[in-house]
Amino acid sequence: MSLLEEWAQWPDFAKATGKEYSFRKITTNVVLITPDLVGKFPRLWECDIFDATRENNLCRLKHEHRMLSEAYRAGICVPKPEGMFTVTIGKSELLKKLYSLTGEKLPAFVMQYVNGQKLSVFKEIPPEINDLWQREIKKATKLGFEPFDAMDWNAIFNPEQNKVYLIDLEYWKRK
Ligand SMILES: Nc1ncnc2c1ncn2[C@@H]1O[C@H](COP(=O)(O)OP(=O)(O)O)[C@@H](O)[C@H]1O
Ligand SMILES: [Mg+2]
Repeated sequence: MSLLEEWAQWPDFAKATGKEYSFRKITTNVVLITPDLVGKFPRLWECDIFDATRENNLCRLKHEHRMLSEAYRAGICVPKPEGMFTVTIGKSELLKKLYSLTGEKLPAFVMQYVNGQKLSVFKEIPPEINDLWQREIKKATKLGFEPFDAMDWNAIFNPEQNKVYLIDLEYWKRK
């Protein structure tokens, strides 16, 4: 089965979850789609030139979702994955604007929204937060992941839970 055929089978987010969309942009390819879930979409500049549904975009989303699921199951502090879905653009003026050249539906994987501060906002990362962060990276390595691009802009500190979440697993590999 081709990836495009596969995508046709990703469930529609609103229908599958019964959740109402409430779009708020975080970055060009990450959008808060309900108050507690974010969708990661194919990148805008790739979509403008090509097509959001191109095989390599789908392949990347699928890879990242798989890494996230495996890391989450292994007990690494990452956003809880919700699955790969189709998001209907018609419901969102924001997405319509962002993805003006694509069709009515967009592929996305959906995950928990992590409320907190990216470590890149700190002038100097406080040592206890740095420890939490390094501990997650070491854990990932020990569990057989290669956490590429695990930089301070890809880590979010959540003060309520006192946890550092690793995000953006697009380039992660499994040894
Ligand atoms: N699960 C999440 N919860 C909260 N914010 C997120 C989440 N995932 C991504 N973001 C925000 O969106 C930005 C881009 O996401 P990221 O996965 O790093 O995409 P990119 O591949 O474009 O760097 C992050 O820097 C962060 O601000
Ligand atoms: Mg990133």
